[in-house]
Amino acid sequence: MSDSHSGDSAVLTIEGKSYSLPIVRGTEGDRAIDISKLLQQTGCTTVDLGYKNTASCTSKITFLDGNKGILSYRGYGIEELADKCLFVEVAYLLVHGHLPTASEYQRYRDLLNRYSLIHEDMIHFFDRFPPGAPPMAILSVMVNSLCSYYPEMNDDPTAPLDLTAARLISKIRTIAAFSYKKSIGKPLIYPRPDLSYCANFLNMMFDSPVEPYTIRPEAVAALNKLLILHADHEQNCSTSTVRLVGSAGVNLYASIAAGINALWGPLHGGANEAVITMLEAIQQDGGDFQKYINKAKDKSDPFKLSGFGHRVYKTFDPRGKIIKNACDELLASLNSSSDPLLEIALRLEEVALKDQYFIERNLFPNVDFYSGIIYRALGIPTNMFTVMFALGRLPGWIAQWKEQQEDPGSKIGRPRQVYIGEPSRPFVPMSER
Ligand code: CMC
Repeated sequence: MSDSHSGDSAVLTIEGKSYSLPIVRGTEGDRAIDISKLLQQTGCTTVDLGYKNTASCTSKITFLDGNKGILSYRGYGIEELADKCLFVEVAYLLVHGHLPTASEYQRYRDLLNRYSLIHEDMIHFFDRFPPGAPPMAILSVMVNSLCSYYPEMNDDPTAPLDLTAARLISKIRTIAAFSYKKSIGKPLIYPRPDLSYCANFLNMMFDSPVEPYTIRPEAVAALNKLLILHADHEQNCSTSTVRLVGSAGVNLYASIAAGINALWGPLHGGANEAVITMLEAIQQDGGDFQKYINKAKDKSDPFKLSGFGHRVYKTFDPRGKIIKNACDELLASLNSSSDPLLEIALRLEEVALKDQYFIERNLFPNVDFYSGIIYRALGIPTNMFTVMFALGRLPGWIAQWKEQQEDPGSKIGRPRQVYIGEPSRPFVPMSER
């Protein structure tokens, strides 16, 4: 554990023998017992299913306090970043550790512009996917394939990471928009150098040679906010995956592709899509949201209320609060009549928050509960929602991968287990089984 503040120690007694374990302290008051020498000293490992209580690293990137509902990137509160920054600035902050100066920002924008195309041969890849292929599968394949076309990370581990990072941040948006255009059989729209990151993405998604797309500033602002809110969230499932894969010495593209696959799951990034599917089902059921609350509470039913609950937040997810307000603003500014799914979501939240089951378990709406309503208002189809999450999360994944690679104390990730299978037994030849 490098760069952390060590203080006093904890004492652990096993079978009458005491062991002193160092306590590692974080800058915001976190305390962790360092058990890295425990096996060597005591012969015992530790069990922590789902890593509910395991810090896998020390990190300077993101802080979150799940009891107080605080989230900050590099020390800056999420509320202020979402309100005052461009996504590209936040991406720079995460990857480089500081907010860009005007000249750093301009250089970064130029890089993102220069790198925004993908190799023309890669465009043929899209044709090889069957109709209806999940966009997250396409995204991970395409990102993995980038290392064949832009291999400097493989060839030269000392090549400047910031260039590869910028390349990836720029290209993922082109890949996402192209995969959508291919999926609907419409011509690809190439990136434009005059447009901002978010405006460019919306234009690639929705412009057409026969129906020009009008880029609305409100839509750009809403997308910008959503991407910032998703940009990092410390050691969640996909980020831990990126770090674990990266810890084996794997290149950035392949590590990120692994993170994309982890994000796909409905318990993680896939929840934003699952929320809309759930709200639509409630709508088709005549608005009977109580039925779904009851299903979520029924322990014999695997159904969970999508967009509710969080491993770390035991109060409102601060991102959820910002998104809820952004939803109202966007729908009002687009002059769109309110989305009926928003009404259902609001009532569902109201009922759940008063229900003893949800109160006892500290289950609150999370970032995914309202994000889908915004994506819908922007015209983004439901099956692209998790891809949108990946676009936002990418700078965080890169920053975490970079931090791990640069940490001299970093080790290959390799958890232990407690074996509970058959004890040692004699081999039985096939003729005797
Ligand atoms: N609906 C009904 N019950 C729930 C829910 C839910 N959404 N979430 C948790 N619970 C119950 C759970 O059944 C358990 O009950 P009991 O104590 O009686 O066994 C209790 O609350 C504690 O839950 P847990 O499953 O031990 O909590 P976890 O930290 O392992 O899981 C979670 C966190 C986010 C996976 C879970 O809350 C969940 O499945 N939520 C729905 C999916 C979702 O919205 N995911 C997005 C998370 S935020 C964005 C992201 O990280 O990608």
